[in-house]
Amino acid sequence: MVRESWASRVGFILAAVGSAVGLGNVWRFPWMTAKYGGSAFLVVYLCIVLLVGVPGLLAEFVIGRRSKRNPAGALARLAPGTKSWGFVGLFGVVTALVLLSFYSVVGGWIVRYFLASFTGSYFAAPGEYFGTISFGWEAAAFQVAFLALTALVVLGGVRGGIEKATKVMMPLIILLLAVLAGWAITQPDAGSGLSFFLDFNPEPIRNDPIGLLQAAAGQALFTLSLGVGTMITYASYLGEDNSLPFDGSVIAVLNTAVGVLAGLVVFPLLFAFQGGLTDASAGGGPGALFVSVAGAFTQVPYGEVVAVGFFAAILFAALSSSISMLEIPVAYLVDEHGVSRRTATLSLAGVILVTGTVCALTPDLFTFVADTLVNLMLTAGLAGFLVFAGWVLGSDALAEFDTGAGGLASSLGVPWLWSVRTVLPLFLLVTLAVNLYSLL
Ligand code: PHE
Repeated sequence: MVRESWASRVGFILAAVGSAVGLGNVWRFPWMTAKYGGSAFLVVYLCIVLLVGVPGLLAEFVIGRRSKRNPAGALARLAPGTKSWGFVGLFGVVTALVLLSFYSVVGGWIVRYFLASFTGSYFAAPGEYFGTISFGWEAAAFQVAFLALTALVVLGGVRGGIEKATKVMMPLIILLLAVLAGWAITQPDAGSGLSFFLDFNPEPIRNDPIGLLQAAAGQALFTLSLGVGTMITYASYLGEDNSLPFDGSVIAVLNTAVGVLAGLVVFPLLFAFQGGLTDASAGGGPGALFVSVAGAFTQVPYGEVVAVGFFAAILFAALSSSISMLEIPVAYLVDEHGVSRRTATLSLAGVILVTGTVCALTPDLFTFVADTLVNLMLTAGLAGFLVFAGWVLGSDALAEFDTGAGGLASSLGVPWLWSVRTVLPLFLLVTLAVNLYSLL
């Protein structure tokens, strides 16, 4: 059977941006920014995206396009004779399943908030509402609904499902967020939210430099969908004429822009209607920002309309990411075991239905997976991919980097290769060690 591929370059870019733009931008990014003192976090995070994220993205692209395989198949095929690299790829496939187990629970919350926004049913008591819906059997049911939407898109295939859906969803997300940001920054007292977000305050860097660095690194990997093999899988459906450095930069810039746009919606709302950052929104658990933002909607005229728009944007963002998670194991079963896309998608959805339900019923496990475990797995995974691209592929990686890249972009190839070989894996391994140390 002929392997699937993207219909167009724009289709690939939008699908990859769709994967990157997700709950990481609208939910985790403002939450982390608030926790680490606003703009200081933003600056460190931007540096890591540029210096680690973009080269990491390119390493995954190179592996994917060179091999035209899922992560496990890619590493096994490009390093014939050694079995162990295949396991590194397989680790990515497993990480995707772990990620989707918690992500679909949050996806379920969003489906619920989206529907509830039409009638404003959480408007009377936003905090209590979140408490009752976030974990338990109802949460599990909504998690299954979100998973079903995800599976529906993946069933349609690369062109007919993922590419088509992301081509519609991405422009809608940007449009909705831009309109909302325009509205939010003109609210009274929005200015103090904006200055918290955008003014530079070096104090958090001095107070807890390691914590901030760790959080910023974790966030940079998570938001660019790195370390799982998403970008390997998406690039495996590419032709040779794309410039990988160009496409990678576009994806990183768009992803960051959407993150900042989401911040422009969230922070003015918090300051205009919640009187700043409450304890809950600054340091609290995963639901804190949900509660605060939903709470702000209850206080504005036509709050239901604004809320529907906001949760629609988040729902599209979450879906375009969850489909990229499910596509990894689906591609693995299709490529390596000759299973049909249909069988692969349905059976994997069945597995995540179970693991996701366990997450929806066990708040402690959910938090451990969403925060600690995911950070560790992504960091370890990306370190593995970088070492592979730098040392096993080596000059082949450089050749792939250059294919389709213009003169300017290909002059970056050699510095890229050396950073992928040395500084970047070192940085990730140190981050991993610090993470593990603080865990123990
Ligand atoms: N980048 C996605 C987000 O920000 C999350 C994600 C991580 C998606 C890893 C795929 C793989 O929400």
